[in-house]
Amino acid sequence: MGALAFVFARKSTAKGLSRIMSLPDANPVPPTSRAPAGARPAPACTLVIFGAHGDLTKRLLMPALYNLAGSGLLDPGFRIIGIDRVASTTAQWRDGLTEMMQSFTHDPNAEFHAPSIDSAQWGWVCERLEYVQADFGDIAQVRALGAKIPGNAIFYLAVSSRFFAPVVEMLGQAGLVTQEDGRFRRVVVEKPFGADLASARELNRRILAVLDESQVYRIDHFLGKETVQNILAMRFGNLLFEPLWRNEFIDHVQITAAETIGVEQRGAFYEPTGALRDMIPNHLFQLFGMVAMEPPNSFSADTVRTSKEQLFEAVRPIPPTDAVRGQYGAGTVGGAAVTAYRESPGVAPDSHTETYVALKLHVDNWRWAGVPFYLRTGKSLGGRRTEVVVQFKKPPMMMFRDTETQDLPPNRIILNIQPAQGLTVEMGAKKPGPKMDLAEVQVRFRYEDVFAQTPNVGYETLLYDCLTGDATLFQRADNIEAAWRAVDPVLQAWADNADGLELYPAGATGPKGADDLLARDGRAWYPLDGV
Ligand code: BG6
Repeated sequence: MGALAFVFARKSTAKGLSRIMSLPDANPVPPTSRAPAGARPAPACTLVIFGAHGDLTKRLLMPALYNLAGSGLLDPGFRIIGIDRVASTTAQWRDGLTEMMQSFTHDPNAEFHAPSIDSAQWGWVCERLEYVQADFGDIAQVRALGAKIPGNAIFYLAVSSRFFAPVVEMLGQAGLVTQEDGRFRRVVVEKPFGADLASARELNRRILAVLDESQVYRIDHFLGKETVQNILAMRFGNLLFEPLWRNEFIDHVQITAAETIGVEQRGAFYEPTGALRDMIPNHLFQLFGMVAMEPPNSFSADTVRTSKEQLFEAVRPIPPTDAVRGQYGAGTVGGAAVTAYRESPGVAPDSHTETYVALKLHVDNWRWAGVPFYLRTGKSLGGRRTEVVVQFKKPPMMMFRDTETQDLPPNRIILNIQPAQGLTVEMGAKKPGPKMDLAEVQVRFRYEDVFAQTPNVGYETLLYDCLTGDATLFQRADNIEAAWRAVDPVLQAWADNADGLELYPAGATGPKGADDLLARDGRAWYPLDGV
C-alpha cells in the first residue's frame, strides 16, 4: 500500500490556501515539496481521462489532483489529457474546470471543501491539462493519441460502464497499452463493474484479453477513505483487538451505509441498478473484507487481495430469505419534504427498484463460523451513517448489572467511517457511589481531535497508488467475481418480481422487514441516531 496510507505519524497541516481570482499565471510556481514523510513523488506519467466532461472528472478527479499537487506528490513531468466527444478546446476545458474549482469553495454539497483555491497550486495542475475532442469508438482518433503519450500512461475510464470493454479493446488495437522500454501502461476502471456474476465475468474476460491483471486498477472509492484504511491499521497495527476478533468472543457484526440523500437526478442510472448492485458487492463488501479477512503476511497488493479472496470465497451464497428490500415513499428528511422515489426523474411510476437492502451473511471459515454479518444500506433514511458495529458476546458470568435495567449491554467496537471518523468503544464502568453498579460508557477516538485535517476527496491515495503501481487498494478480478457470486441468488430471485418490496417513508430507518431480519435471531440494529 502506498507510503501515504501507513505513515503512523501526525500529518502536517496543509499550507494555507489563498483565493484564486483569475486563470492561473502562465508559469505558475510548482508546489514546493510537501510530501508526507516517507512518501516520494510519483513517477512522471500522462493521465488520460476518458470522460473529461463528466461529473467524476470535475467533482473528484480534479480536486484530488489539486490536493496531490499541493502535497508535492506529482512529478513535474506529470500531464493530463482529457478526452470527450464534447466540442471544446484546451482553453475552454481549463476555464470550465477553474470555474468549477472556484464554485466548490461555496458549495456545501461539494466533496471538496476548502475556503479558497491556491492559484499556484491549481495553476500547476491547470497548465498540464490538454483537451482532445475524440470519439473513443473511433480507432483512428484513439491511435492518434499515441503520439501524445511517449512514456508512462494511465488511462482512466471515467465513462459509463457500457464503454469499459470497448475502450480497453480500442486501446489494445491502437497499441497504447503495450508496456515496453520500461514504460508502464495502466487502466483504471470505475464502478459499476458488471451487473451480476455473469456480466462481471464477461467484463473481466474482455479486459484480460487485452491487459495483464497487473495493469488493471478496478477502483472502489470506499477504499480511498482514510477511515476504511484505518480498519487495517487498527486490526493489524495493534495487539489489542486481534485476539478477540473471532467467533469465540464476537456475537455478530453490523455493517451500515445509511444515506439521507435520495436518488436525486440519477434515476436513469439507478432504475436498472438498485441499492443492492450499487452498494453491496462493492462498497459494503470492501468494508466487510477489511473487517473480516485473515491477517495478510504483508501489505503487498497480491497478499492482501488473496487474503480478501479467501474470505469472500468462504461467504455462503445468500439465500433470498436472508435478504430484505425496500423503497422510499414520500416523507421528511432533516425537516425537508422528500418526494417518493417513484416520482423522481427517470424512474417508472410503478418501479420496483429497491432503494434499501439488508442482508445476512454467513462465513464458513474457522474464525467466523456462527457469527452473522448483517449488512444494510439505503437512501432517504433518517440518519447519515457509514459504520461497522462489532458486537461482543456477554461475559461468561455476569457479576455486575445495572440495577435499573437488571442487565448490562454487550461491549461494542464501532468503526466510524463517516461522517464521524474514528472509533468508539462501548463498555461498562462503575457508577460513582457506594454500590457496585455499572453503567454503559463510550470511549471515543475522533480523527479531528488528534490529527490536522488535510483536504481530501478520497481519490488522492487511489490516484497516487495507481501512479506508483500499488494495487493493494484496488479490486482484483477474483475479488469482484466472488462478491457477485455471494449476492447472485438474491438478484436472480428479485429479477422481475416485486414480491416482498416494502415501502418505507423517507426519513425512516428502513422497512420493517429489516428489523424482523435481526429480530428473528434475537438481535436488533444499532440505532441510526446517537454516537
Ligand atoms: C456511489 C453510489 O458509488 O457511492 C452512490 O453510486 C452512493 O449511490 C455513493 O451515494 C456513496 O458514497 P459516499 O462516499 O458518499 O459514502
